[in-house]
Amino acid sequence: MEDDNMRLILLGAPGSGKGTVAEELTKLYGVEHISTGDIFRANIKENTPLGIEARQFMERGELVPDEVTIAMVGDRLAQPDCEKAFMLDGFPRTIHQAQELDKLLAKKGLALDAVINLIVSDDIIKTRLSNRRICASCGASFSVTFRPTKVEGVCDICGGNVIQREDDKPETVLSRLKTYYEKTQPLSDFYEKEGLVLRVESEVDHMGTIRNIQKDFLARGIIQE
Ligand code: AP5
Ligand code: MG
Repeated sequence: MEDDNMRLILLGAPGSGKGTVAEELTKLYGVEHISTGDIFRANIKENTPLGIEARQFMERGELVPDEVTIAMVGDRLAQPDCEKAFMLDGFPRTIHQAQELDKLLAKKGLALDAVINLIVSDDIIKTRLSNRRICASCGASFSVTFRPTKVEGVCDICGGNVIQREDDKPETVLSRLKTYYEKTQPLSDFYEKEGLVLRVESEVDHMGTIRNIQKDFLARGIIQE
């Protein structure tokens, strides 16, 4: 398979490392990274109608309604840079979203190659999210322990202010975890039945996670030596 035809999903709890792993896979394979959370945050920053609607759900740690999210992803996947190859981070998050994605891909005559399920304990998630910082201007992600900025509070990439993400407050993290277990975790069974799931422990260093993903891609013929 051509690397530029990869179609991947990153599944995993909040803070499991979806964004971090996606960044590395994009560097390696050039596949377009589509994070629904990032798109919502960009809309919140610009105060668009979509952002205004999404914000109320995100700050409670709940999911944005399916119809809003599905339409948004449908529009994104219609753009030329991700018409054939993409890496979805944070979508789908409900069985209904997964079914709608299947229908959309079937219409295009495309299929998914793999669903990467990142496994991390709740305790590690809570620590990671309390340590995470993001750039208020460009959205880049840092961590006070794992990936600190060179100068405290200043983004390495654009010089913007580095702040804590709104939904990383401990009480919102608990609500996001509850939402994940109720609505999103059942997706691993949904995709398991299709033989697409690659379970990866994400507690080790993230490059170890990437190496495990690459080994599995080779075994499945998604990439060649
Ligand atoms: P979203 O932005 O997708 O948030 P999330 O799923 O909660 O995941 P995070 O972005 O918090 O974590 P991540 O898994 O990307 O981890 P990261 O790599 O940053 O969604 C936000 C909200 O938008 C949702 O709550 C919902 O309201 C809404 N939404 C989004 N999609 C939706 C959908 N499809 N339907 C409905 N609503 C939707 O890592 C976390 C931290 O750990 C970072 O600081 C990182 O540097 C650090 N780290 C990463 N890897 C390691 C490692 N190996 N060791 C140590 N530290 C590490
Ligand atoms: Mg993320």
